[in-house]
Amino acid sequence: MTTVLQINASINNSKGQSSQLAEQFVSAFRERNPLAKIVVRDVAAADPVPHLDAERFGAFIATAEERNGAQRAVVAYSDTLIEELKQADVIVLGLPMYNFGVPSQLKAYFDHIARAGVTFKYTDKGPVGLLTGKKVYVFAARGGLYAGTPLDTQSSYVRDFLRFLGMTDVEFVYAEGLAISPQSRQAGVSKAVAEIARLAARLSPPTRAAA
Ligand SMILES: Cc1cc2nc3c(=O)[nH]c(=O)nc-3n(C[C@H](O)[C@H](O)[C@H](O)COP(=O)(O)O)c2cc1C
Repeated sequence: MTTVLQINASINNSKGQSSQLAEQFVSAFRERNPLAKIVVRDVAAADPVPHLDAERFGAFIATAEERNGAQRAVVAYSDTLIEELKQADVIVLGLPMYNFGVPSQLKAYFDHIARAGVTFKYTDKGPVGLLTGKKVYVFAARGGLYAGTPLDTQSSYVRDFLRFLGMTDVEFVYAEGLAISPQSRQAGVSKAVAEIARLAARLSPPTRAAA
């Protein structure tokens, strides 16, 4: 059975444009894979990930014997986030751009899933990601137009971070120009929706059960 992990990172919950595009793709995926298990993790609105501080990071690097109760809870929370990723074959990320970067709660999520010896390890040849064999789709929503320009440091950051953890098969879909004008918004969303249809067509065809 295929497992899909949908990560929403909009402060506007499922109403965010990035969440809506992620949801549309997951719906198309479900249509073609009715038995797929879908897990939704909302990192910014419904269940915001706390920011990493010295105490939380200290819990990660302490040994199991050294951890106090609070630290054990921090590690258990991080382990839950990581286990969701490990179980997922397909990861669908709704990615808003806020002030040129990723939502701070998504950064906090990244800080909770990057654990040495758990999701990556250091070797003589450099770091090696341990979350391999996954397909990642990123649905990026932006008020302006940045894709393919030097100002789009968000895409390279997200791609580099995922690669660091071993996720190298990553596709980006952009809905851009959402704040420029109503026409630009419509064009940006339509382009992303068309891209979702193209990606969905590449998936296995709808099964009889889904028809
Ligand atoms: C706090 C905030 C900061 C934003 N910063 C940017 C930005 O730097 N560049 C940009 O193109 N759009 C920016 N936008 C517009 C968002 O990218 C756009 O509204 C997008 O739809 C957000 O995704 P969401 O709807 O899934 O939350 C910003 C929006 C907010 C609320």
